[in-house]
Amino acid sequence: MRSDSPIIAVRDLLGRPLESLRLSVTDRCNLRCLYCMPEEDYTWLPRAELLTFEELTRLVEVFAFVGVRKIRLTGGEPLLRHDLHELVAMIAPNPRVDDIALTTNGVLLAEQAAGLRKAGLHRVTISLDTLRPDRFHAMTRRGDHARVLAGIAAAQRAGFTGTKLDAVIVRGVNDDELAGLIEFGRAHAAEVRFIEYMDVAGATQWSPERVLSRAEMLQRLEQRYGKITPAREDSAAPAERFFLPDGTVFGIIASTTAPFCSRCNRSRLTADGQWYRCLYATSGTDLRGPLRAGASSSALAEQISAIWSARTDRGAEQRKSERFRGAFVSLDELQRDPHLEMHTRGG
Ligand code: GTP
Ligand code: 5AD
Ligand code: SF4
Repeated sequence: MRSDSPIIAVRDLLGRPLESLRLSVTDRCNLRCLYCMPEEDYTWLPRAELLTFEELTRLVEVFAFVGVRKIRLTGGEPLLRHDLHELVAMIAPNPRVDDIALTTNGVLLAEQAAGLRKAGLHRVTISLDTLRPDRFHAMTRRGDHARVLAGIAAAQRAGFTGTKLDAVIVRGVNDDELAGLIEFGRAHAAEVRFIEYMDVAGATQWSPERVLSRAEMLQRLEQRYGKITPAREDSAAPAERFFLPDGTVFGIIASTTAPFCSRCNRSRLTADGQWYRCLYATSGTDLRGPLRAGASSSALAEQISAIWSARTDRGAEQRKSERFRGAFVSLDELQRDPHLEMHTRGG
């Protein structure tokens, strides 16, 4: 495949283009957030099976050829992958990729922010579920809140703009912090986004009662701040944005009560090269096998196009239509196939 070959933009059976790829660079994490990794023990992907930076870069080239323009590095915790800045520097020169972002828990960001920015990373999204160190400890069962705050400050110092702070809101756990988090975001030039607790695989403690819906979030914020105005936007991004009366912007990702499947242009690659067309997909496509067997880039692009062209996934909408909703995948199944886990396929 030549670097000037035309892009063959592919669409799925619901007319959705393949524009965004989430690359999980490791399944390991240094936190154990209760909404994502509530268990004591996990089955990890064997290290020898992880794609090398060269292999990841090659797959990014192939995906860019079929239309991907946005790459998001995720994990597990992506900053646990050694020398991640090198991968960023390898992807950044690709002229077809116009956005490289990172989703991180922030614990290791203070050390790495400047190097990542220099390597060509465009944006960072940092998880910040609480402003209270004691609560942080209870929610993540590891880690140091102060290091996350230092990571947020370092991102700003390193010159990142468009930084987002993601907070998964769990009723009875951190739902009293909506206003506090908005104020924090305002003070740190970052946009706060509230995420409805999702019943993704791995969220074995999920129950409908623990979800604070977008409607309820807005109602509580209106009580505090007055009228909230939705921004008019037409994008494939999962977050809807809103303005407070003073112009402060925040977002809500309502994947549980109002899924964005009809606009979903994203897919995800696990650190060992399994490609999933949907966050909720229970089976994926092994790309590492053909890659290591010497498949040409055109052959890989054709395989990806064929699979995307047949895509009908709308996992979150399907979950929403279930009458009795509990954990999506049982603990037994998760132990048998760790690829189902949210922390393996990229949060
Ligand atoms: P940008 O729009 O590029 O800033 O990224 P993003 O909005 O995709 O952000 P991010 O990666 O931080 O994802 C935020 C949250 O959206 C995740 O933590 C999930 O809760 C939710 N989300 C991300 N990807 C998916 C997906 O594929 N399906 C669904 N239903 N929800 C998702
Ligand atoms: N519900 C919503 N978001 C989740 N994440 C992980 N688990 C869940 C869940 N059950 C997302 C969060 C976190 C990112 C890594 O993955 O946004 O910040
Ligand atoms: Fe896309 Fe699947 Fe998430 Fe729906 S559930 S938004 S189709 S990845």
